[in-house]
Amino acid sequence: MKTWIKDIVNKVDEVVPLAGWVANRRDHGKLIFIDLRDRSGVCQVVFGPWSGEEIYAQAQKLRSEWVIQIQGLIKKRPENMVNADLPTGTVEVDVKELTIINESQTPPFPLEGDGYEIDEEARMKYKYLDLRRDRLQKNLALRHRVIKFIRDYLDTEGFYEVETPILTKSTPEGARDYVVPSRLYTGSFYALPQSPQQYKQLLMASGVEKYFQIARCFRDEDTRGDRQPEFTQMDLEMSFVEREDVMRLNEQLLITLVQTLLPEKKIQQIPFPRITYKEAMEKYGTDRPDMRENKEDKNLLAFCWVIDFPFFERVDDPSTGSGQEGWTFTHNPFSQPKPEHLTWLMQKEKIGEILTTQYDVALNGFEIGGGSIRAHNPQVLTTVFEIMGYQSETIQKNFGHMLEAFSYGTPSHGGIAWGLDRLLAILQNEPNIREVIPFPKTGDARDLMMSAPSELDPKQLQELHIEIHTKKV
Ligand code: AMO
Repeated sequence: MKTWIKDIVNKVDEVVPLAGWVANRRDHGKLIFIDLRDRSGVCQVVFGPWSGEEIYAQAQKLRSEWVIQIQGLIKKRPENMVNADLPTGTVEVDVKELTIINESQTPPFPLEGDGYEIDEEARMKYKYLDLRRDRLQKNLALRHRVIKFIRDYLDTEGFYEVETPILTKSTPEGARDYVVPSRLYTGSFYALPQSPQQYKQLLMASGVEKYFQIARCFRDEDTRGDRQPEFTQMDLEMSFVEREDVMRLNEQLLITLVQTLLPEKKIQQIPFPRITYKEAMEKYGTDRPDMRENKEDKNLLAFCWVIDFPFFERVDDPSTGSGQEGWTFTHNPFSQPKPEHLTWLMQKEKIGEILTTQYDVALNGFEIGGGSIRAHNPQVLTTVFEIMGYQSETIQKNFGHMLEAFSYGTPSHGGIAWGLDRLLAILQNEPNIREVIPFPKTGDARDLMMSAPSELDPKQLQELHIEIHTKKV
């Protein structure tokens, strides 16, 4: 096993195995210096005539991004040669053995520096090279630490992490579904989940009581800086809770996470301020207000809760296309209205005034999470769908399984989902979520590295009984 480069400062006068990539090579006549890089850091490696003819000749061949393994003697540098900019700058490595593991072509772009100036499509095509840069390694590391922190925290709070299916049925979250054709059932399709919303509620019906999942979600919607076709939620649901319980747990988790993993950050206000949807729109003109007192401060985090959203909003009736007005949900059809508005909902009156138990959490002007207390009574859920103009046949076809589950003793419950990518992008001061997603998609939903989406082999199409008719434009 190799030694991490960051640890060599504690191995002075020892011979240790190191392995990594040549970050660069400097030829100084008889001396050859290379910067050797592994995930943990960079160190200076020196070759000279004393290294022996064979090793010295090999060292002359080394180029950027070649992968090598060495046995090296860790030597303390003289005082005047210390490089204060490098964490390993007090030492250098004298090579005793050298193995070239692999050569590398010249990379298509530099891997040093932040890389923001490089054409993003090039970075995406060669994402495995882009990920070698220090900035993106740090983003991967924080992503790992945040997810681990969440898992440990929620485990202590008695949550189970439960995986839910990816091949499933369409869930109404307001976006278009990605669909997967079924080979066995000609003409039938699975839908990829826009979120695990229905499954997590069914887990409450299953008696799990406290569920969470680091869940992949899929939405076929226009991609933007804070939106990807596939993204990750920290998804959570709890039984026998009220709005206050869910908000308190999540607020405490966010605060502890930031204070533990990013102590340099300052949370502007604790407890997080709360603002109603109405106030937010009137005061900030948005339902995800940026409450930062100083927008220049990179370490300032202004969390806030937005509550009391309208349950429904008016839309043109999509089924008729007649321009006739109808209602749709603003956030989540499975939400419970605020207790004082339940009667209006059940009597289908003052529909535009019914407020939901929905709570969103905003951070520095981005919506980083949202959830609600759910309707656990089948009658309430049915009424929501009726208000939206669904016929009882459609309700049964699409949501019969939920209504049936609710008829078998489902507890009261509520939950939330965080947009994990958005939270990470803000914590890392990244301009968009693509920088914190290991393998992101382009603005037009392509994976340039794998060349996806791509056409299928005719044989595969045949098996699926699918014919492609391309319209000539
Ligand atoms: P919602 O649709 O609000 O709620 O999603 C929760 C959070 O996920 C993030 N998000 C996204 N992030 C990146 N790319 C996207 N395309 C994208 N869409 C959403 C946002 C958002 O706040 N099932 C409910 C949650 C619940 O009620 O428990 C849901 O999915 O940060």
